[in-house]
Amino acid sequence: MNDPLYTVLALETSCDETAAAIVRGREVLSTILHSQTLHRPYGGVVPELASRAHLQHIVAITRRAIEEARLTLKDIDAVAVTTHPGLIGSLLVGVNFAKGLAVRLRRPLVPVNHLEGHIFSGFLEDPAISFPFLALVVSGGHTALFWVEDFERIQLIGSTRDDAAGEAFDKTASLLGLGYPGGPVIDRLAASGNPRAFELPRPLLHDRSFDFSFSGLKTALQGLLRRYFPTGVPAEALPDLCASAQAAIVDVLVHKTIRAARLYRARTLVVAGGVSANSELRRRMQQEADRIGLRLVLPRLSYCLDNAAMIGLVGHEKLRRLGPAAFRRLTFTASPTPLRAPQKREVPQSA
Ligand code: KG4
Ligand code: ZN
Repeated sequence: MNDPLYTVLALETSCDETAAAIVRGREVLSTILHSQTLHRPYGGVVPELASRAHLQHIVAITRRAIEEARLTLKDIDAVAVTTHPGLIGSLLVGVNFAKGLAVRLRRPLVPVNHLEGHIFSGFLEDPAISFPFLALVVSGGHTALFWVEDFERIQLIGSTRDDAAGEAFDKTASLLGLGYPGGPVIDRLAASGNPRAFELPRPLLHDRSFDFSFSGLKTALQGLLRRYFPTGVPAEALPDLCASAQAAIVDVLVHKTIRAARLYRARTLVVAGGVSANSELRRRMQQEADRIGLRLVLPRLSYCLDNAAMIGLVGHEKLRRLGPAAFRRLTFTASPTPLRAPQKREVPQSA
């Protein structure tokens, strides 16, 4: 018997993107995003402003997702929403809006973990990915490696001990006066710079664990700027500085991920989250994956950044597995932290 297909309206408001999508199985019928730019002057996301902006945009974004899918509200079989982890005020806007919709439509409401959205976003690019696979999630809030046996068995094999990789990009940009978010501008400037121009640390590169640490980069860069550019960074030094900082981050991400892939004998690697938009990370990861015969799935940019299609995909999977009747109770709420931390797997002795 074929698995049932549900038309799922998904909502994502965990940070600074207000997103809605319509998903049927692994097919995306529409995906709409409003990226909040009002945080730029502050050098980071201001939680209170983020939740207010979600409130302002969520109705219009949801309407557009339904219109672009050429559907009406009564075609929706279920609603899915990100409940954790994220900024609590932002999450609450999405969760409460989704609850209202579910009650009004008399449809089930599926709570979804944002990280699971990123982990399984590879299916939006390639619906035929087979388990198990290795997933690297790199974003502004997270840097973690997961060994994924199926939709329910996800093992955390390493994560950052301090800053996330995206934070390292953002802090570097802030030190260089390049604004927020830092990743895209560093990516662009680094393209014409020399990655060996300045020496920056690669913390935990040779550590046996699969953990990461990026907070030292900011301190090292601060020291370097004081030494070489005590009166301010000239524009012509920016490409080399960006390329050097980017290389330090990318080296660690690629080295650790490829070592994990070898150790776990992974056949497939999925890289997702905002930082996976980085062109040097994509290039180097592809090069190394090809070298060891590893299949690399890099979702297109719109599925790498926060989006609601990935939330719809996970929501659909839960509906298929547990049935709509399991999602009639609306007693859950949002949580800033992961509700159930994925089980941490010990690094095998042969590492
Ligand atoms: O996944 P995401 O949209 O939101 C979070 O859940 O954090 O990721 C945002 C992060 C920011 O830190 C941003 O600087 C980084 O992704 N980013 C990039 C690039 N595009 C976005 N980092 C490096 N290179 C890029 N091209
Ligand atoms: Zn994210």
